[in-house]
Amino acid sequence: MAISFNFFLLLLLLAGSTTAFPNFFLSPSFYSNTCPQLHGIVRSAMKEAIRNDTTIGAGLLRLFFHDCFAGGCDASVLLDDTRASVGEKTAPANKNSLRGFEVIDLIKKRVEAACPQTVSCADILALAARDSVGLLHGPRWNVRLGRSDATAAEQNAASFSLPGPGSSLPILLTMFAAKGLDARDMVALSGAHTLGRSHCSLYRERIHGDSNIDPAFSAALRSTCPLGSGNATVTAPFDRTPGRFDNMYFKDLVAFRGLLKSDQALYGGSLVDPLVEIYSEDNAAFGRDFAAAMVKLGDLSPLFGLPGEIRLNCRKVNA
Ligand code: HEM
Ligand SMILES: *[C@@H]1O[C@H](CO)[C@@H](O)[C@H](O)[C@H]1NC(C)=O
Ligand SMILES: *[C@@H]1O[C@H](CO)[C@@H](O)[C@H](O)[C@H]1NC(C)=O
Repeated sequence: MAISFNFFLLLLLLAGSTTAFPNFFLSPSFYSNTCPQLHGIVRSAMKEAIRNDTTIGAGLLRLFFHDCFAGGCDASVLLDDTRASVGEKTAPANKNSLRGFEVIDLIKKRVEAACPQTVSCADILALAARDSVGLLHGPRWNVRLGRSDATAAEQNAASFSLPGPGSSLPILLTMFAAKGLDARDMVALSGAHTLGRSHCSLYRERIHGDSNIDPAFSAALRSTCPLGSGNATVTAPFDRTPGRFDNMYFKDLVAFRGLLKSDQALYGGSLVDPLVEIYSEDNAAFGRDFAAAMVKLGDLSPLFGLPGEIRLNCRKVNA
C-alpha cells in the first residue's frame, strides 16, 4: 500500500514539464523593434500604481490567471459587458472581486501614445502581472510576448475552467491538468496567494466548520466573519505577509492556517504535501518554480494575428 502510494506520488512529481510545450510564436523580444519603450512604460506605471495602492499588485496577478484560464491569455477578461454579450467580469469566480482594470487602462493609454496600435492588451496584462510580483519582492522572469486580443468574451469558459474556494485537491489537479499544468505547477501557482486577500463569504464555512485548521487562527477570524450573512466587505489576508511575495503562504499551510478550503487542500495528508514542505522551507525554490509556471500559464492558447486584434481600448473590441 505504502509503496504504490509513493510510486503514484513520484509519477505525479516527475510528470514535470512534458505536458505543456513552449509556444513558438511568443518571444520576449517581440516588440523590441516596434515598441522598445514598452517594458519601461509598464514597469514605471506598476511602480506608481503600487505606490498609490499597495494591494493592487495582487489584483493584477489574479487578473492574468483568470484571463489565461478562460479560453487562453487573450485579454478576454478585460472586456466590459455589452448589450449583445455578457463578459467574464460577472462570471461566478470573478463577480465583484476582480481588480486592477483601471491600471491596465492607464498603461494602455501610455503605450498607445508611445507606440500606436502595436501592443496587445493581453501582452500588457502579462507584463503587469510579472512586474507586480517583481516589485513586491518576488521572482522575475522573461515574459514571452506576441499575443493578440480576443474579439469576444468567454463567460462559459470562465465559469467552468476556474477553481473555486471549496475545490478539493483532485478537482484542483484536474482543472490545472486540463490546461497542461502539472501538480508542481499547480502548487507553485497557488503560492500567488502569498499576495492579497479573500472576502469573508468565501472562507466563512472553513473557519466555522473545518477541523484541519489551527483553532487560534479560526477563532481570530470568526469575530469579523460570523455565521450568517454579515458584513459583505470584510476580508482577510491569505498569509501573514499579504503585501510581500514570499513563501509565507506555504509556511501558513504547514501550520494549518490556510484561509480557503482550496488552500488547505494542498497540505495535511495530501499527495502534494512534500512540495508544500519544500516551498515552505526554501523561498528560492518556490520563486524558481513559480516563475517557470507563470511562463507556462502565459503560453495558454494565445491568439496570433487574425482572428484576434490589437484592441485600442482594452474594455471593448475594436469597432
Ligand atoms: C488553485 C486554485 C485557486 C483558487 C481556488 C483560487 C481562489 C481565489 C479566491 C476565492 C480568491 C478571493 C477573491 C475575493 O474574495 O476577492 C482569490 C484571490 C486571489 N487569487 Fe486565487 N485562486 C486559485 C489560484 C490562483 C492562481 C493560480 C493565482 C495567480 C497565479 C491566484 C491569484 C490570486 C490573488 C493574487 C488573489 C488576491 C486578489 C486580491 O487581493 O484582489 N489565485 N483566489
Ligand atoms: C496614482 O494616483 C495619482 C493621483 O491620484 C493618479 O493621477 C495616477 O493616475 C495614479 N497612477 C496609477 C498608475 O494608478
Ligand atoms: C464592514 O466592514 C468594513 C471593513 O471591515 C468596515 O469598515 C465597516 O464599517 C463595516 N460596516 C458595518 C455596517 O459594520
